[in-house]
Amino acid sequence: MFPQERPRRLRQSANLRQLVRETRIDVERLIYPVFVRPGQHQQVAISAMPGIFQWSVDTLVDHCRAVYELGVHAFLLFGIPSRKDPVGSEAYDPAGIVQRALAALREALPDAVLIADLCLCEYTDHGHCGILRGGTVDNDATLDVLARTAVEQARAGATIVAPSDMMDGRVGAIRRALDESGFHDVAIMAYSAKYASGFYGPFREAAENAPAFGDRQTYQMDPANRREALKEVLLDVAEGADIVMVKPALPYLDVLSDVRQRVAVPVAAYQVSGEFSMIEAAAQRGWLDRERVILETLTSIRRAGADLLITYWAPEVSRWIARQE
Ligand code: PBG
Repeated sequence: MFPQERPRRLRQSANLRQLVRETRIDVERLIYPVFVRPGQHQQVAISAMPGIFQWSVDTLVDHCRAVYELGVHAFLLFGIPSRKDPVGSEAYDPAGIVQRALAALREALPDAVLIADLCLCEYTDHGHCGILRGGTVDNDATLDVLARTAVEQARAGATIVAPSDMMDGRVGAIRRALDESGFHDVAIMAYSAKYASGFYGPFREAAENAPAFGDRQTYQMDPANRREALKEVLLDVAEGADIVMVKPALPYLDVLSDVRQRVAVPVAAYQVSGEFSMIEAAAQRGWLDRERVILETLTSIRRAGADLLITYWAPEVSRWIARQE
C-alpha cells in the first residue's frame, strides 16, 4: 500500500493546520526598539527605515503608550546624545538622553519592561563602542565606563540593561557594579553573539553611530564563525547574563539553534535594521508580500530557537496577531 503516510491529511483546512502548528509568534515575546533624541515635539524620520523615527522624550512617551496598549510591553532604548566626546560621557550622565527617557517612561508606564541598550558608540565622537587607546579600542578601560553607565540606567528605571559592545568580561563587570549599587534585581540581556554585520547599515543612520574610522571587526564576531558563538554565550552566562542574544537574526538561524540547545536562559534574537529595510524596500516595489514575509521571518527566527523577538515591526505584528485571534 503506497503511500502509507499522507502528511497532507493535516494540511486540509485552516483549523487543522492551526491545530498542528509547531511555532507561534506571541505578542508577549516582542521587544520594540526605539530611538530617542534631544528636543521637544520631535518625530524625525529615518530615511533608510520607513516608519521608524527618532523621538524626543515627550513624543516617545506618547508613542510607547500607544504601542503598550497594543500589547507590546517591552521597549529597547537607544539614545542620540546632544554632544559626543572621546569617552562617551553622556552615556553615564544622570541627565543623559536615555536616562531622561527611562525616567519618563517609567513614570508613564510603571509596568513596562524597559531595556536600555548599553554601548558607547552612539556617545563617542569617534563612533567606536569603547575607549580608544593608540587607535584601538581598549577593552578593560571600556569596562569601567560601561559599568558606570549600567548603574545610571538602573537608577533611571531600567528593568534590564543590554550590553551590545562586545568587550570581553563586560557582563561580569556590569553585574558587579549593579550589585554594589544595590541593583540586584536589574537583569542583564547580553548581546552575546553579535556579529560584525553589514545588516546594521540603516541603524547607523538611525542612531548616528557610524565609526569615524575603521570598522568593528576587532570586537564584533566574524560572520564565518559558528562555534565561537557558543564560547561567547557560555562566557556571558557564566558571568551572570540573565538573557543572551544572537544578532542579526535571520542570517544566523544556525547559531540561534545551537545556542537554544546549549543554555537554559532565555534566548533573544535581534531582527536588525538591514533585515527590516530590505523587506521594506522589496515590498515598496511590489516584489514581496510585506505582511506575509515579515511573519515568515519572525516565525523562522522563533522556530530556530528564539524566545524573545526584537523587531522594529513589533507594533504592526501585534495588530496582525490580534486580528488572527
Ligand atoms: C551598537 C548597536 C548596533 C545595533 C544595535 N546596537 C549597531 C552596530 O553595532 O554598529 C544594530 C541594530 C540594528 O541594526 O538594528 N552597539
